[in-house]
Amino acid sequence: MPHSKEQLHTFAELLKQGELVVFPTETVYGLGASAWNPRAVQKIFEVKGRPSDNPLIVHISNVDMVKEFTPSVSARAKLLMQKFWPGPLTLVFNKRPEVPDIVTAGMNTVALRMPNHPTALALIQLSGPLVAPSANKSGRPSPTRPEHIYADYQRKLPVIDGGICDIGIESTVLDLTVNPPVILRPGNITASDIYEACGFTPTDGSDTKAEAPKSPGMKYTHYAPKAKVRWFSTGELSAVAGPALVLCHTSEPKMPPAATGLFWRGDYPGFARELYDTFRKADRDGFDLILVEEFEPEQLAGNERLLSLVNRISKAAGPGS
Ligand code: TXA
Ligand code: MG
Repeated sequence: MPHSKEQLHTFAELLKQGELVVFPTETVYGLGASAWNPRAVQKIFEVKGRPSDNPLIVHISNVDMVKEFTPSVSARAKLLMQKFWPGPLTLVFNKRPEVPDIVTAGMNTVALRMPNHPTALALIQLSGPLVAPSANKSGRPSPTRPEHIYADYQRKLPVIDGGICDIGIESTVLDLTVNPPVILRPGNITASDIYEACGFTPTDGSDTKAEAPKSPGMKYTHYAPKAKVRWFSTGELSAVAGPALVLCHTSEPKMPPAATGLFWRGDYPGFARELYDTFRKADRDGFDLILVEEFEPEQLAGNERLLSLVNRISKAAGPGS
């Protein structure tokens, strides 16, 4: 249901009073709290069950807000902001000492993003900057529809309903405190997009196996449904004996008797948009196993945006898969 201007004012008031509000973005729903209110931010960690060493992204609605959080904005950062904001690109800067430690988990850097969603922007304009992790319970797939939030929290949190999130996968996180900048989490904005728009190529630092990941959140088993997630190649499918939810993005193989197939037929934006909903559907429908068609190297070489999809599925599948 679309919300009125008055309702948005009410949500902004709640945030200013230190309450949490769930709001839509173009990637996934965020669980918002006022960035300058450490007690409100503390509630996020409690409500989500989020480890306290995992820093939060500050969401802003205009570029002037950047200065509140970081003392210096390089020419490169300005260009990135101009080319990609509002949009699914989170930029990591050196932080000002005033930024509450609870926001940055004690790190000396702060992550900032301007979401490309009219409701999010209008809300932040009224409330001021908001920290917002994905609005799932820690360890569950990020919510891309209001039903997902109700499934995790029942009706305990105020939710601004924005329907289905457009992209369905969390933002690209780019660390600008190192040279060359490093992609800590792949998302819809790719290294090639950045090269084309800004003339430099960031390094890929999203290796989740690294001992001390710079983006602390990447070390946790995120995005995971209760069902086991496994990659498959079409030839292996006939050996599947029990019930399984089978996700196919190119081929349409014959399903074994107990399996249910879902097909995207090359619609990768559609697959990304529905990935987390599909994970949750598997749990709702009682599947213990989700099989995902492998990506061929040529497919990946031809479409860098697939990296974020492969990253989230691999993380759901866990180490060694
Ligand atoms: O698309 C998104 O980014 C969504 C929507 C709601 O905006 N938000 C989101 O937040 O995915 P969250 O908290 O689920 O993921 C934030 C990621 C984590 O991996 C965290 O470790 C990393 O960003 N991060 C936050 N601050 C950081 C910092 N200062 N340095 C490095 N990584 C940081
Ligand atoms: Mg998250």
